[in-house]
Amino acid sequence: MSDIHHMPRVLSGVQPTGNLHLGNYLGAIKRFVDLQDSHDCLYCVVDLHAITVPQDPKALAQQTREIAAAYLAAGVDDGQAAIFAQSAVPEHAELAWIFNCVARIGWLNRMTQFKDKAGKNKEKASVGLYVYPVLMAADILLYHATHVPVGEDQKQHLELARDIAGKFNQDFNVPDFFPIPEPLIGGPAPRVMSLRDGTQKMSKSDPSDLSRITLKDSDDDIAKKIKKAKTDPEPLPDNPDDLAARPEADNLVGIFAALSDQTKAEVLANYAGQGFGAFKPALTEVLIDRLGPVRQKMAQLLAEPQHLDATLMRGAERARTIAGPVVKRTKEIVGFWQA
Ligand code: ADP
Ligand code: TRP
Repeated sequence: MSDIHHMPRVLSGVQPTGNLHLGNYLGAIKRFVDLQDSHDCLYCVVDLHAITVPQDPKALAQQTREIAAAYLAAGVDDGQAAIFAQSAVPEHAELAWIFNCVARIGWLNRMTQFKDKAGKNKEKASVGLYVYPVLMAADILLYHATHVPVGEDQKQHLELARDIAGKFNQDFNVPDFFPIPEPLIGGPAPRVMSLRDGTQKMSKSDPSDLSRITLKDSDDDIAKKIKKAKTDPEPLPDNPDDLAARPEADNLVGIFAALSDQTKAEVLANYAGQGFGAFKPALTEVLIDRLGPVRQKMAQLLAEPQHLDATLMRGAERARTIAGPVVKRTKEIVGFWQA
């Protein structure tokens, strides 16, 4: 991978903060795999983002290996894509500081994720949590990435990254220095919802374990959670538009579609008129079929941490060959002294 790239470049990241769930898999990781043949891809484990809320120092490195293992188990090829820890590439933090001086407080005040994560007690939130989206902009722009696959919840952060790129280019009169990155948010499951409440996002922090399917769940866990998933008494419609007022049904059809590489319309073509008594077992089968091998591969990879560490090391070296020259040039543009 050289600094002069011919393919469009993709960067994305996942935080090493505990149990990966189906939303992370369908919204992000599975899509990383689909992009690697057509794009120059960098997939980061964003540990600097993770410490914006307290983490156990004894567990953090292993959590980073777990995300690397999930990328590989899902099918990311570390010969093609760089897999690395954000903290191993110091240029992320360096560029983030410069961007802290480009981004406006007013822009950050509009970020809904900060409001959600900080909760009622904003005064006690870390400063890092507040500037989290600025670091995310640095992650992307550091590689002059053009495309960013993420779940729908990251849309606002991507808009901020675009604003930062535009303002930097304008303030320093370097019109095309940072490309304006495009979010890649799409497919049938850009926002996977809780299995217990179709109006809430599936998340790591939901107190109910039944609300999410994780990449560690056994086949029995998956079967149990789908059995208990909230639904409604109506049969499935033949048109996806008719799912609009049925959030739980819409969610389950979206999950089925994403896992089986179909559209919702294609799924409904097979299940229209049937109730959840028929649909749930089919969904369970697809989930077990797709997630079982990922779980097994992850366990194998985690049993050989030296292999994962070698992948992370190689990935960081590759990332630094791109990040180093970009930061050097950025510092020249800003006017810093450099020997
Ligand atoms: P989380 O949001 O679970 O704390 P991350 O912040 O590390 O985890 O998110 C990693 C990726 O997973 C991001 O691209 C995010 O948009 C995506 N993601 C998280 N939750 C969901 C969900 N419920 N549906 C779709 N994508 C999701
Ligand atoms: N903020 C993202 C999330 O919470 C994770 C992330 C950090 C990221 N840096 C990124 C995603 C750069 C895409 C690109 O999900």
